[in-house]
Amino acid sequence: MAYSEKVIDHYTNPKNVGTLDKSKKNVGTGLVGAPECGDVMRLQIEVDEESGIIKDAKFKTFGCGSAIASSSLATEWLKGKTVDEAINIDNMDIVEELNLPPVKIHCSVLAEDAIKSAINDYRVKNGLPELTEEGAK
Ligand code: FES
Ligand code: FES
Repeated sequence: MAYSEKVIDHYTNPKNVGTLDKSKKNVGTGLVGAPECGDVMRLQIEVDEESGIIKDAKFKTFGCGSAIASSSLATEWLKGKTVDEAINIDNMDIVEELNLPPVKIHCSVLAEDAIKSAINDYRVKNGLPELTEEGAK
């Protein structure tokens, strides 16, 4: 299978690998697994409480190269967005940007699920209702 240069770049040189302090009220943590393969992804956001802008994002992915590349790209996209904008990051945008082949689409779904899960954690911690299936779109 031929991977795009962007996948290889995010895989060999992933951005924002790490951990944020999940005890902080302005940090949201998402932990999700892919039923297709058992890979696991943790993604965290740190929100500037005044502006609602995501000022930092980190991930750790125990999974395939495409999942690592998807989460690396996702953290890059998250930074600088408001939480409400971040809800609208769609896995198909990741597929397009990384040119993922069909068998690797679920790897990008994992990244979208991790984003939503991190946002939900942040929302619940701050007294907001959880997102519904459709998100807050
Ligand atoms: Fe083996 Fe994802 S299926 S790492
Ligand atoms: Fe399962 Fe990529 S996340 S193969």
